[in-house]
Amino acid sequence: MKYIAEPFKIKMVEPLRLTTPEYRRQAIQQAHYNGFALPAADVYIDLQTDSGTGAMSDAQWAGLMVGDESYSGGRSYFRLMAVAQDIFGYQYNQPVHQGRAAEKVVFPTLTQPGQYWLSNTFFDTTRGHVGLAGGRPVDLVCPEGLDTGAYADFKGNMDVAALRDFIVQHGVESIAGIVMTITNNTVGGQPVSVANMRQVSQVAREFGLPLLIDAARFAENALFVKQREPEFAQASLRHITKEMFSYGDLFTMSAKKDAIVSMGGLVGVRDNPELVERIKANVIPFEGYLTYGGLAGRDLEAIAIGLEEGLDEDYLRYRIGQSQYLADRLEADGVPFQSPVGGHGVFVDAGRLLPHIPWQQFPGHALAIELYLEAGVRACDIGSLLMDRDPVTGQPQRAPAEFTRLAIPRRVYTQAHLDVVADALAAVKDRADSVPGYEIVWEPKVLRHFTARLRPVG
Ligand code: F0G
Repeated sequence: MKYIAEPFKIKMVEPLRLTTPEYRRQAIQQAHYNGFALPAADVYIDLQTDSGTGAMSDAQWAGLMVGDESYSGGRSYFRLMAVAQDIFGYQYNQPVHQGRAAEKVVFPTLTQPGQYWLSNTFFDTTRGHVGLAGGRPVDLVCPEGLDTGAYADFKGNMDVAALRDFIVQHGVESIAGIVMTITNNTVGGQPVSVANMRQVSQVAREFGLPLLIDAARFAENALFVKQREPEFAQASLRHITKEMFSYGDLFTMSAKKDAIVSMGGLVGVRDNPELVERIKANVIPFEGYLTYGGLAGRDLEAIAIGLEEGLDEDYLRYRIGQSQYLADRLEADGVPFQSPVGGHGVFVDAGRLLPHIPWQQFPGHALAIELYLEAGVRACDIGSLLMDRDPVTGQPQRAPAEFTRLAIPRRVYTQAHLDVVADALAAVKDRADSVPGYEIVWEPKVLRHFTARLRPVG
């Protein structure tokens, strides 16, 4: 159990408030047992997401001061374009305000009503935008991806045989394209191998389908490739990234993850001027002029710097080392999780930790609430609460796994913070039998987990 020490020192701090269990019991009740409704000031360690919650470097904060706020053609735009082209190797790069904005401007340009999009696993907003564009999202992750106890180097991979079968069975005209999410967030931040990307791109070329990379955590994925794919053991992360992206036709990216900024995103197109024109036609009305794309010039500057920092190998070893350290501590305490651990945090297998709670009572959510009560740690459900009801039948849908996600913000928490989290989970495990399930009191029609009101059962 080794903690890789931070390759940085701290020069600004943000105080955290300590609360009592009684205070937290009232706070979570007032929040109708939904962590999204808690004021962040009532949270001690916030592992709800690693998105937009990282700590920017001194270079990034300095970059904010030199950001060029010209409406068009700003210096910061050109700096970001140069960095993005150098890293990804695509001809066209377009800033947008976040990942889902990239999805919003791209998916309608490539989707005919009723067509399928096939993915190693869609993130929820990507799934949502496929639907909004009239498409039908289908997940085809490799079988080991959902076997939380089994070790596999690349659990995020696409099931290539299933991909080919689906295309042949349904006919290529019914398919809009293929999405590869790197790392694969929903199955636990699990990496995708270059070999798998090559095979998927062969299928895409064979059938003439576009291959889109959802690149939110591309840098973490590159480190896993270096560590686990022998062909790349000596390669630089930049080399791995270039090769990975050479198999894609376009990418959408939330810069709030591996580019370590609070807000931002990118679209990239390898070599398709006609598609670029259709994307531009969506960017201007939705995101603003092409050279700012919904962001301030200073944001573009911070993304350009963050993209390079996010690919630094010493930083990434420390970063993935934090997930590994927390996972090692949980393993020692017998807490089950998606193993091996992924890049952006630990996905605890709440279904196995709380076997007395049926999926209809949301074990992943129950564990998240219990962690908050125990130690003021905020986590979130990636399980059957996150799954919306079937839009046609209205029936609840069962998730493939009941996870509680402990997402680790970048460069924010220390080893001692992670120890608090591990101790809290061990304490909850010891009284697992007494943890209640939850029932929904009120829910909206879509994306219910954000605003649903719940109460403990019994
Ligand atoms: N794609 C992936 C793989 C993501 O994880 C996210 C966001 C998005 C796209 C959308 O990006 O938030 O900038 O609009 N994931 C966050 C999370 C919200 O908590 O995992 P966005």
